[in-house]
Amino acid sequence: MSLIYNIGVLAGIQPEGVLRVEGAAQGKTGILENAWLQIENGRIACFGAGIPPCHSERSEESLDANGGMLMPGFCDSHTHIVYAGSRDAEFLDKINGLSYEEIAARGGGILNSSDLLNRTLEDDLYNQSMVRVKEMMEKGTVAMEIKSGYGLNPDAEMKMLRVIRRIRETVPAAVKSTFLGAHTIGRGYSHKAYVQAVIDMIPEAAKWADFIDVFCDEGFFTVEDTDRILSAAKGLLTPKIHANELAVSGGVQVGVKHGALSVDHLERTTDAEIEALRGSATMPTMLPGSSFFLGLPYGRARDYIKAGLGVALASDYNPGSSPSGDMRFVLAQGCIKMRLTPVEAFNAVTLNSAYAMGLSREYGSITVGKKAALILTEPGWDLTKIAYQYQSPFIRKVFF
Ligand code: NIG
Ligand code: FE
Repeated sequence: MSLIYNIGVLAGIQPEGVLRVEGAAQGKTGILENAWLQIENGRIACFGAGIPPCHSERSEESLDANGGMLMPGFCDSHTHIVYAGSRDAEFLDKINGLSYEEIAARGGGILNSSDLLNRTLEDDLYNQSMVRVKEMMEKGTVAMEIKSGYGLNPDAEMKMLRVIRRIRETVPAAVKSTFLGAHTIGRGYSHKAYVQAVIDMIPEAAKWADFIDVFCDEGFFTVEDTDRILSAAKGLLTPKIHANELAVSGGVQVGVKHGALSVDHLERTTDAEIEALRGSATMPTMLPGSSFFLGLPYGRARDYIKAGLGVALASDYNPGSSPSGDMRFVLAQGCIKMRLTPVEAFNAVTLNSAYAMGLSREYGSITVGKKAALILTEPGWDLTKIAYQYQSPFIRKVFF
């Protein structure tokens, strides 16, 4: 049992049962000033404003927030942090103007990471990945999704899924696992043979993963491939789709058709994608870190919200298109580049991102009964200031 008192701003309060916020509701969140919050058995037991009831502020188990802000920790619903080595050797090609597709066509890109991962021992892969997981947790991420997709053959895909399981078992953050066998065509396979190989991997992958993902985009997997793969996964793995990063791919529509929990990227979308998402349970998820790193357009988050949809933001932390898992930078880009208000962007990196990985019953807001997975800031911070003054250190402590 412990009490946090003298909280300057308690931000991100939501009533019980709100699993995502959409449209105008994305621009609202509950705030209390001069507040306290009580934690019991790792969960939020109660909170309020003013003097905490029936507790001595000097008890050993209480913590003086010194006027800092207390908010839900960041939820990152899209990462590829299990990878080997890095792709810094391609950085110069990128600077010299080669596109993501051109680098991939030269044998760089995902296949480059795959070759390295296939040569890397499982323990080593775990250790390399844990460096990134720890970095993310230090920066306030309390729940994350991690994808496979650099194995690209049955053995190495399962190696990745085992590493993700091991991470889940060793860290205090929540971890969800996604089978992304369909990331690109594995070495030695024809396109057709690899799609079949992915389908054949599904039953085993379903023992290890929560979700299935397909990179449904120009030059990678078609709508027809995606439809076949998701049909084979029906009842075993819920979809989360890479869609509309490189082209208007049809990935959103095929994802919605199969009840995807989220469709992610969305750098290139028309009004048809917005229309397809209306009334669905699918969370549009944008990844401003890859727009930033690849020089792609930013997603049309404002238009989605105007259409009554919710938007989630995630880091896409990976070696090729977003070598950063800094969710505070994602939040800031949501405001600066996508013109979300600080509260809209905050909801996008907390509650809506938790929803996009099936965790919003437990994470993503200040709600009685949810996990006390929280960020306590230094004094003087609020939701606007963490986005505006986007590089100054602000975290005092992260609670898991
Ligand atoms: O989400 N777009 C496909 N997959 C990743 C990039 C993976 C990589 O380049 O290693 C992404 O951007
Ligand atoms: Fe991705």
